[in-house]
Amino acid sequence: MKVLDATPAAVAEATEALRRGELVAFPTETVYGLGADARNPEAVRKIFTAKGRPADHPLIVHLPDAAYLPDWAEAVPAVALELAERFWPGPLTLILRRSSRVPDEVTGAQDTVGLRVPGHPVALELLRAFAGGVAAPSANRFGRISPTRAAHVAEELGERVSLILDGGESEVGLESSILDLTGARARLLRPGGVAPAALAAVLGYAPEVVTRAGMRVSGALASHYAPRTPAVLVERVDGPELRASAAVLSRRARPAGFGGVWLELPPTPEAYAQRLYAALRELDALGLEGLYIEAVPEDEAWLAVRDRLRRATAASRQRPEEVA
Ligand code: TXA
Ligand code: MG
Repeated sequence: MKVLDATPAAVAEATEALRRGELVAFPTETVYGLGADARNPEAVRKIFTAKGRPADHPLIVHLPDAAYLPDWAEAVPAVALELAERFWPGPLTLILRRSSRVPDEVTGAQDTVGLRVPGHPVALELLRAFAGGVAAPSANRFGRISPTRAAHVAEELGERVSLILDGGESEVGLESSILDLTGARARLLRPGGVAPAALAAVLGYAPEVVTRAGMRVSGALASHYAPRTPAVLVERVDGPELRASAAVLSRRARPAGFGGVWLELPPTPEAYAQRLYAALRELDALGLEGLYIEAVPEDEAWLAVRDRLRRATAASRQRPEEVA
């Protein structure tokens, strides 16, 4: 595996690798993606092997711009174009009825397809050079924390990927919002980089949030994005409940006299989200007994962060005996 700074030469090399049916990891504004030519079923199958992901979990197809939508979606409703106009390039994935030319490997044989134009200059350069759709899940092993830096991808996938384009740290830090436009009203399948209020402003109504409808959406599995260290959500760490070998993830400064590992994240939802996965990874690497994550506010601006924290701590809630 090689990690290359995303120079024009490196992007050209990555484009050629995609054309040959190989996997390329690349930066997006949300998290790093593990890409393959979305029209090449054999290439797409390599993604599932590299991630250890069940083959029926659908992938998002990344496009250079909205003009490519008709190549992938059978019907493109007007609202999709309005959302694309407003949020692309950016952290929004639209679920539309698939075109019959989309390989089953990409859609998990469902009749819908997820599409997005990412808002990262390197991703866009790669997609424009490739001039087609690139299927890409987050570049982590199945169920683990998504990578927001090239080094995280290398840690996760090692020799399972031959080329990683390094485009620096992902700015958003959480995955895209996934909006299903195949029904009468839009539904939010995964809260993410676009605030629900911003979606509502275009839709004219607040989309229903359905994140656990038993769908084949990896992010919908309760224990996803999970650190290996047993993690619990707590209102506030005050000391007495803290076990000797545990770390705290908080939005507060380390209290005076606190001697353990204390990682302070920024107070705003955007800045917190941007750093969250790297922080979980850093604390996980310490191999401590436990991780206490202090709760974040209940308002909508924190919806995507709360969703990821709930999932990061789900394994500990469901099977404490197994993760202890
Ligand atoms: O921000 C992102 O979306 C990142 C970057 C790399 O673009 N990608 C990402 O991909 O998070 P992944 O595969 O880790 O998560 C995509 C989610 C999965 O939970 C998948 O099941 C869901 O999108 N998905 C894809 N196609 C779908 C479809 N047709 N219907 C419902 N869910 C779909
Ligand atoms: Mg993922």
